[in-house]
Amino acid sequence: MKHLRSLEQFSKAELMELINRAIELKKEQKAGKLHTQLTGKTVGLIFEKPSTRTRVSFESAMYGLGGQVIFLSGRDTQLARSEPLKDMSRVMSRYVDGMVVRTFGQEVVEELADYASVPVINALTNLHHPCQVLSDMMTVIEEKGSLEELHIVWLGDGNNMANSWLQAAAIMDFKLTLACPEGYEPDAEILEASKKIATKPITLVRDPKAAVADADVINVDVWASMGMEEEQAQRLKIFEDYQLNSELLGKAPKDCIVLHCLPAHRDEEITDGVLESEQCVAFDQAENKMHIHKSILEKLIG
Ligand code: CP
Ligand code: NVA
Repeated sequence: MKHLRSLEQFSKAELMELINRAIELKKEQKAGKLHTQLTGKTVGLIFEKPSTRTRVSFESAMYGLGGQVIFLSGRDTQLARSEPLKDMSRVMSRYVDGMVVRTFGQEVVEELADYASVPVINALTNLHHPCQVLSDMMTVIEEKGSLEELHIVWLGDGNNMANSWLQAAAIMDFKLTLACPEGYEPDAEILEASKKIATKPITLVRDPKAAVADADVINVDVWASMGMEEEQAQRLKIFEDYQLNSELLGKAPKDCIVLHCLPAHRDEEITDGVLESEQCVAFDQAENKMHIHKSILEKLIG
């Protein structure tokens, strides 16, 4: 396991190992145990898009394991002046023990990883958000015990999160239904590839009510992801019927939990009432990002 480009490159055993270790590290932290396994290690965070959770949880994870971070916003590096990625990657590899990258194109992560001699971790691209889906699966396991028997539903835009959930379903053997409006489906190649190796049904539907009817987990995310802000007004209309409100949640079983990776646009993709309800575990997901990032950093950099 060298880089974390997307979930697809991992086996079920490897992903379970990361999740189980995160659960253990969380327990140890809560018991007051101090960790020092990354003492002397430094990670560079290269972020070309905004972030609250991912940035702070990676920084806090690194410090929590005894390591250090250097944060670089995209506009402050020579990348903003078109320095080739292959040069940036080789230079950074001489200074740091790993790179955590949030950017637009997946090809940026791929090229940095191709040229790096240290691990490169994908902290969100337009195509994937693998670390988030790892912390979300950890949260589901904490709540429900395991993944295999569950029906997980994705509601709304077929975005980076939806693509990572598709890869997760194929690897981790759970049933996944995506309810997306026409023209807003997940990446066609990822959908096909995931269906091919999945052992449980992966289904794309239009009707959100039908999708949630026997859901154990409902996932929602913003309707316009970072970089799509100019489509916001148009998307508000297109996604109107996909809002997770108390009426739609009422069609799902009572013990169904709601996931939102945050940031949330209240009263757009999710109502304030549902986000603040006991069924919603968004703030546990947010906390778990730090624990899963510790587990990833320990495995890749340690
Ligand atoms: N969920 C998530 O990735 O949040 P940030 O954009 O704040 O990092
Ligand atoms: N799909 C969202 C996720 C944010 C964490 C985005 O890319 O903006």
